[in-house]
Amino acid sequence: MRKKITVIGAGHVGEVTAFKLAEKELGDVVLLDIIEDMPIGKGLDMREGGPVGKYDSAVMGTNSYADTADSDIIVVTAGKPRKPGMSRDELLEANVNIVKPITEEVIKFSPNAMLLVVTNPLDAMVYTAYKVSKFPKNRVFGMAGILDTTRFRAFISMELNVSVENIQALVLGGHGDTMVPIARYTTISGIPLTHFLRPDRIDAIIERTRKGGGEIVKYLKTGSAYYAPSLAVAEMVESIVKDKKKILPCSAYLEGEYGINDLYFGVPVKLGAGGVEEIIQIELTDEEKEAIKNSEAAVRNIVNLIKF
Ligand code: NAI
Ligand code: 2OP
Repeated sequence: MRKKITVIGAGHVGEVTAFKLAEKELGDVVLLDIIEDMPIGKGLDMREGGPVGKYDSAVMGTNSYADTADSDIIVVTAGKPRKPGMSRDELLEANVNIVKPITEEVIKFSPNAMLLVVTNPLDAMVYTAYKVSKFPKNRVFGMAGILDTTRFRAFISMELNVSVENIQALVLGGHGDTMVPIARYTTISGIPLTHFLRPDRIDAIIERTRKGGGEIVKYLKTGSAYYAPSLAVAEMVESIVKDKKKILPCSAYLEGEYGINDLYFGVPVKLGAGGVEEIIQIELTDEEKEAIKNSEAAVRNIVNLIKF
């Protein structure tokens, strides 16, 4: 039987995500937004594209949570995006007030679903969904690390003129300027990045990766990135639906891993039919551990501002 995947928020990220999920035939897709009728139009448009796009996924848009009933996966993209000059953290108050009631609604209709949160500030919003839903930790997680990693990979590919498919990389930590791209675990067809690039060029690429979201906001002026983010969500959904058990950097609930407790944080996880099936702990140098601590502090400062 086909999976049912609901996408909450039919804005930039929500609509492209819904379209990618349908195109990849990962399940039937429900797209929900508070703006009256808008998601219905977008859903119908995607459904009408099926014959020529060669996908049989049924896509529907709605304003009613009843249509989301019995979803297997719920992707939460609803919320305000950044404007130029804003940090993701400045979205906290507005987006907590969106993510909390959404979580309450979706769990009424889909008590067994997995919650995949995208709304920023990401790690704090996943924490909110986890606390409000009271779901087990394996069924609540966030997308950010795949986006940060794909940016890192893209910049390396642009610098070296090699295929993006050859580049394996890893970005850990919170989804903000303190994120921790790990050059030591970055390879090109198994060959360490340090073979190809001088340290100053690696540092420059790491810095661009950290500021990658802001770079797009600066150009768009009215919102934030959505193509790469939506593809990253689709990769997570695919790994779950097909039980691929990919190792992917995701925001997961930590209980002692990496020395961190009671926090959502970007770490490599095994993602399969059971959601977050395992958290992979890797060896880090003292310098990398320090960077992780710095990132943990930044995420915790934001999470501590949430009133439950
Ligand atoms: P957008 O403004 O294009 O779309 C947001 C949509 O949410 C709008 O259509 C709005 O009507 C809807 N919405 C607001 N309140 C709602 C509610 N209570 N129920 C249902 N829908 C509601 O924004 P965009 O670009 O789609 O970004 C969405 C969020 O995702 C932002 O917070 C953004 O910062 C975040 N984001 C996070 C990424 C990550 O790596 N985790 C990557 C890209 C975006
Ligand atoms: C980004 O990094 C908006 O957080 C999102 O592009």
